[in-house]
Amino acid sequence: MSTYILAIETSCDETSASIIKDGHTELSTVILSQMDTHANYGGVVPEIASRMHVENITLVIDEALKKANMTMDDITAIAVTYGPGLIGSLLIGLMAAKTLAFVYNKPLIPVHHIAGHIYANNLVKPLSFPLITLVVSGGHTELIYMKEDYSFEKLGGTLDDAVGEAYDKIARVINVPYPGGPLVDKLAHNGKDTYSLPLPLDDNSYNFSFSGLKSAVINLVHNEKQRGNEIIPANIAASFQNKVVEILTKKTMKALQNYDVNNLIVAGGVAANRGLRERLTELCDQNNVNLIIPDLNYCTDNAAMIGAAGYYAYKLGRIADLNLNAKANDELK
Ligand code: KG4
Ligand code: ZN
Repeated sequence: MSTYILAIETSCDETSASIIKDGHTELSTVILSQMDTHANYGGVVPEIASRMHVENITLVIDEALKKANMTMDDITAIAVTYGPGLIGSLLIGLMAAKTLAFVYNKPLIPVHHIAGHIYANNLVKPLSFPLITLVVSGGHTELIYMKEDYSFEKLGGTLDDAVGEAYDKIARVINVPYPGGPLVDKLAHNGKDTYSLPLPLDDNSYNFSFSGLKSAVINLVHNEKQRGNEIIPANIAASFQNKVVEILTKKTMKALQNYDVNNLIVAGGVAANRGLRERLTELCDQNNVNLIIPDLNYCTDNAAMIGAAGYYAYKLGRIADLNLNAKANDELK
């Protein structure tokens, strides 16, 4: 018998619901993005995000059921992102999930947001183990080893800024509007790597550090302005992106080699980055590594990925009671 998960994601500025069959087949996904509203402020405003989630949450759930031609009676369990994320935003999705679980007497499955990003890949192709996952989002930059479903061994992570955060910060310095990351990526493709920037934390660990690179960009722009020199934003974007892609791919390929793994998956918003996708595809081809990267729409936040992860959590009996609380920060385990 098939398992149908109703999944809910509200950890940041997307209100989303999805219905996923058996962890790999998407029956429906609805995403209401608040991006245009937050763009007026240059970034996500938590109070506005929570309020908009309240307005939208029942709409996206109803719509997801309607699109899948299902009712709550057809649903096996309810999966929800409990953290990490903006606490006020998480609470809205969590309350909706708990209410449905209580009223319809369905199991409630807590899903870690990053487990969701990882399992977005399962919607492309069933995961093969062991694998290495490169997690690159607005809040995370990590290399994780998975020997089987839902087993996450962290090899290393960022010591300071996450890679998406670094993108968003340098975007402001070169006057690229919110959302910074995708627009810097676009600019980079029209520019040339002409500025000399450092390769950050080029050591033997699997850790990353992006604050030095970010400061190098800020100082460069500042110094050029002081000298009265014109800066070329597309070239800054290209120079920055090249260093980011070089260090991410270098450490990822090293992890694959040292752990003798030939399956790589990429997770999180920055997995949408064209420079990163192209370079990883090239390196994986050369080294006979099976690479999966989610389709562009499933790199950034959505409930489909939460439904995919939720299925495996459910199979492992990871079921919460109605005391489940939202967590702004939480380790993936
Ligand atoms: O995974 P996500 O939607 O939210 C978090 O869980 O953090 O990731 C959002 C991050 C933002 O920092 C955004 O600027 C970045 O992913 N991002 C990109 C691209 N698309 C999204 N960064 C670089 N290149 C992109 N194409
Ligand atoms: Zn995310």
